[in-house]
Amino acid sequence: MTTVQLLEGSSLLSWRRQQLERGGRRVDFDWLLDLAGGLSWSSLQRLRVEPQHSVQLRVSLEDLERIWGLHLDQAIPLQHLVGRCPWHEIELTVSAAALIPRQETELLVDLALEAIAGMYVGRWADLGTGSGALAIALSRAMPASPGHAVDLSADALALARSNLEALASTGRWHLHQGRWWDPLEPWWGQFDLVVCNPPYIPSELICHLDPVVRDHEPHLALAGGTDGLQAIREVVSGAYRALSPGGWILLEHHHDQSDAVLELLREAGLSSIRPARDLEGINRFALARRLLPDQA
Ligand SMILES: C[S@@+](CC[C@H](N)C(=O)[O-])C[C@H]1O[C@@H](n2cnc3c(N)ncnc32)[C@H](O)[C@@H]1O
Repeated sequence: MTTVQLLEGSSLLSWRRQQLERGGRRVDFDWLLDLAGGLSWSSLQRLRVEPQHSVQLRVSLEDLERIWGLHLDQAIPLQHLVGRCPWHEIELTVSAAALIPRQETELLVDLALEAIAGMYVGRWADLGTGSGALAIALSRAMPASPGHAVDLSADALALARSNLEALASTGRWHLHQGRWWDPLEPWWGQFDLVVCNPPYIPSELICHLDPVVRDHEPHLALAGGTDGLQAIREVVSGAYRALSPGGWILLEHHHDQSDAVLELLREAGLSSIRPARDLEGINRFALARRLLPDQA
């Protein structure tokens, strides 16, 4: 898909209208035009005001029509069809091997960096790394600190490796295959910062998910057991032992799990426990830390 196509603005706009009449969401089509075609949302808006101007697309209209058709007919995520996804200042390679990183998860990075502001981070971890998104963001923010990214899925780890090799700022990261804290046992007690976006969808909701998600994203990345809290319980139960004194853990969770997750953190002996909201104002994150020795 390397063709460069020069088009009159008015022709492109009428072609876009035809494609939208096939179905689908305008926001998704414009995302495709931007990421695959190279026509940014602001350039598209300018074209609507000045349709006499020409535009350049870096793929042919036929290729874009084919991708849009596959998305509409088979509910394949556009990110999988394009193979890329912009996320938190980087552009990741994505595939069916791992969850497509979500916009709200960008907030987990911001919350983590706020929590450790002014603190020396000797070692960090990303549990359930998937595409490697969070691990890359942490490695770029703390290039001097060694980091560990864990996943149970070998396919996800292969994707995370290629993303980390392309996008992480240094080679001070390590990948581990296994269950949550297990492969990190040699460093238990040393983690100053741990982030985790675990699978948290209750089993009975999985079949009701949008087919774009349900039929194309790995269920290992989605399914959190009967109440959605199975993975969170496992992660939280090992947190006290694995965190350093003063170390932080930050978790993402489902929109209705805040109280339950905060209670699990309390039961695990952690302190400074608090929820944090997503962009819609819903509590979707939980933060906690292991007490410093002089506070214990
Ligand atoms: C919701 S996805 C998050 C992926 C990525 N961190 C993100 O935010 O886009 C959860 C990840 O946890 C992994 N996972 C599921 N069960 C696991 C387990 N028992 N131990 C380690 N990782 C696990 C999945 O393979 C998946 O990559």
